[in-house]
Amino acid sequence: MTTNIKRIGVMTSGGDAPGMNACIRAVVRTAAFHQIECYGIMRGYQGMIENEIIKLESKDVANIIQRGGTILKTSRSEMFMTKEGRQIAADNLKNFGIDGLVVIGGDGSFRGAQVFYDEHKIPGIGIPGTIDKDLAGTDFTIGYDTAINTVVQAIDKIRDTADSHNRMFFVEVMGRDAGFIALSSGISVGAEAVLIPETKTYIDELIANIESGYKRKKLCHIIVVAEGDEEGGAVQIAEKVKAKFNHIETRVSVLGHMQRGGSPSCNDRLLASRLGHAAVDALIDGKLNYMVGIINDKIAFTPLAKANKQQPQINEELLRLVEVLSA
Ligand code: F6P
Repeated sequence: MTTNIKRIGVMTSGGDAPGMNACIRAVVRTAAFHQIECYGIMRGYQGMIENEIIKLESKDVANIIQRGGTILKTSRSEMFMTKEGRQIAADNLKNFGIDGLVVIGGDGSFRGAQVFYDEHKIPGIGIPGTIDKDLAGTDFTIGYDTAINTVVQAIDKIRDTADSHNRMFFVEVMGRDAGFIALSSGISVGAEAVLIPETKTYIDELIANIESGYKRKKLCHIIVVAEGDEEGGAVQIAEKVKAKFNHIETRVSVLGHMQRGGSPSCNDRLLASRLGHAAVDALIDGKLNYMVGIINDKIAFTPLAKANKQQPQINEELLRLVEVLSA
């Protein structure tokens, strides 16, 4: 089936992620290629409600592929969660003649797109854009690769200090309820331990491992803590551990929003370009209300309603790597 879509809207929603601009560029240019008009909706669903909608042409997305953040800006809209808010948003889109949406964001943004379709019949295609990589239906999300590289660079620098002062560092990384950022970056920086929400954290075991490390003349330790760990963030976990190691200087570093910024990596630019292109093709082909993702390096579609937070699917092999290689 092919649709008669003539005018589409593109928006970024939820937390920004590096590569969103590359994706916007791909959407706008693919639309132009097919003679479909493209409009940018500013500040996600909030801009849709406040009628902040601008025409985007090919030239408007020149020189943005390398930029972090999102030129369309983003937000988490409370108002869109109300029926009244969605009604105003739908009226605005209809005034512009927008008959299809490309929503770049996370599962909350996709839920919004599905409800919007159910109520107003304006179809959407979701594109996974979040550093957390916590969505079902895709192996990667836009922004994840850049974020883990940012984390690796930051922790490499922290290790210089840890090594010079023989210190123990607890480094907290983002990921909301997921440990993907912590696990990948932790392995890549040679962390002594990685604590993630998907596996139970045993503080006694951690203490025993650190002790055994010191006995083997390991003089500095880097413990990577996912912000969603059930034992708390890096500050709380450091408190629980450091009392046992009075003779060792301990520091905490919370990396924070630097993980969301910066120029996207090559992998993120490539992923964003492929997904942006596939999303517009899908709208044209009448594949409506799906998230477009990547599985085994191939474009894959998942109904929006199923593109929700990924169940704990941490790779056991990676967990084992931390255990073996940190010895
Ligand atoms: O979802 C991306 C993310 O950066 C999470 O890793 C983090 O928990 C959250 O957003 C932070 O949100 P905010 O920018 O609203 O503080």
